[in-house]
Amino acid sequence: MKIIVELGLDTKQELLALGLFAEEQEAYANQNPVLDSELKKATKRETFKSDFGSAYVTKITNSTYDKVLVLSLGKKSELTLEKIRRAASRIVRYMQAANIQGATTNIVEMIAGAKLFSPIEIGRSFSEGLVLSEYVFDKYLSKPKIKKIDAVVISWQGDKKEFEKGIASGRIISENTNYTRALVNEPAEYMTPEQIEREALKLKSKNVKVTVLGKKLLEKEGMNGILSVGKGSVHEPRLIILEYNGGGKEKTTAIVGKGIAFDSGGLHVKPYGAMEEMKCDMAGAVAVIGTIKTASDLGLKKNIIGLIPTCENMINGEAYKPGDIIKMYNGKTVEVMNTDAEGRLILADAITYAEKKCKADEIIDLATLTGAVVVALGYYTAGLVTNNKELGEKLVLAGDASYDRVWMFPFHEEYQDMVDGDASDLANISKKQDRIAGTIVGGVFLSKFVDKAKLAHIDIAATAYLKEGKEYNPKWGTGAGVRLLTYYFME
Ligand code: BES
Ligand code: ZN
Ligand code: MG
Repeated sequence: MKIIVELGLDTKQELLALGLFAEEQEAYANQNPVLDSELKKATKRETFKSDFGSAYVTKITNSTYDKVLVLSLGKKSELTLEKIRRAASRIVRYMQAANIQGATTNIVEMIAGAKLFSPIEIGRSFSEGLVLSEYVFDKYLSKPKIKKIDAVVISWQGDKKEFEKGIASGRIISENTNYTRALVNEPAEYMTPEQIEREALKLKSKNVKVTVLGKKLLEKEGMNGILSVGKGSVHEPRLIILEYNGGGKEKTTAIVGKGIAFDSGGLHVKPYGAMEEMKCDMAGAVAVIGTIKTASDLGLKKNIIGLIPTCENMINGEAYKPGDIIKMYNGKTVEVMNTDAEGRLILADAITYAEKKCKADEIIDLATLTGAVVVALGYYTAGLVTNNKELGEKLVLAGDASYDRVWMFPFHEEYQDMVDGDASDLANISKKQDRIAGTIVGGVFLSKFVDKAKLAHIDIAATAYLKEGKEYNPKWGTGAGVRLLTYYFME
């Protein structure tokens, strides 16, 4: 989709998208009496309301536009950056539904008129809404159901340079989110650990170094968490290391992504209904790839290390078994009480590696870790468990700003012994009380693998893969984590 900025509306486009604030219902009366009277009728018929998002499609007589979409922007004082994304999204969704390839709009100018946000913020949010809404997973359809949009022309009379900067950064963030979504949506048959490695290797550049530890090196290092989980698969496990050097001078942050290419549950095999979507269990891994790519494309002045432990959780004669005791990379022993609690085992080794080898003092992991997070928070907020409240609060703020939101769970002392072992140091699920506080228990387990580093664990099991789309998030892979971490690094 081209996003074009012009001084006025582009009369050559098929669709005109007009914005209307609740306080300015008469805004179009002077410009166009026909539209004004139509709007009045529509309001009377209650087909158009002043609440944000209410839309009305009409025509203007004697105009070049095929259709006019009037979108209510709600009350001026209640405008937010998220509403700007959603307004852009509504335009794209309408175009997709009505099979329209070109539009022009005054909405952004109306928004700027409210004087609540900078041109950069407006540009970024609007282009995020447009580009994020463009993504559809139709690669495997013989015939795509939705035609690609050609252009959206934005009329804008303010500071063009700043505004276009915002448009450009929003596009980078969103295209990389779309790329991440596409990787999540690939069937596991194709998106194997070796394919995840190939995707990571594509990032190799002046600023990004990519190293891969294969099975042999993992054995040499004693990374038995990753090795054990991967034992039952024909695809060999690996640890992928991405180093982005943006010339940052402060702390080194490591971002770690769970890369289970497919989660059958292992010998504690998942039942029918629970396994079908498990190609998404590498969503954290590809969100790390997407975030590093975004940081590099934006040229963020930060140093970020991406770590991706990846393997498949499968079953064959060599698969790891309930009751096995694994000696982890940091030397602690873990009893496998449930082979389906595999994510924490591969992440634990990667987290140890982040602190010990990469000297990271701040570690953030993204993982589709627990079904429990769906129960706790539903589909629109990820769960956060951290040993450092300050880091947690920063992530919550980045979540609110990007709207890739997270909610902080407690980390009270009473939870800290829940993964204590019996014949081993630790167990991979709670031996004391099964099925309670599942998401927190996952985070507590991971925290046992840091020494001094701050750790923030983000459980994206509910947000990374949706059954139903909403606003600019499509159904299936959402790219959760990419916008969150990008906003976090942009500050
Ligand atoms: N990959 C799953 C979690 C998951 C569930 C991701 C739903 C996406 C959607 C994870 O490996 C898992 O199986 N977790 C178990 C943990 C339990 C055994 C402690 C779960 O949530 O049931
Ligand atoms: Zn899993
Ligand atoms: Mg599992």
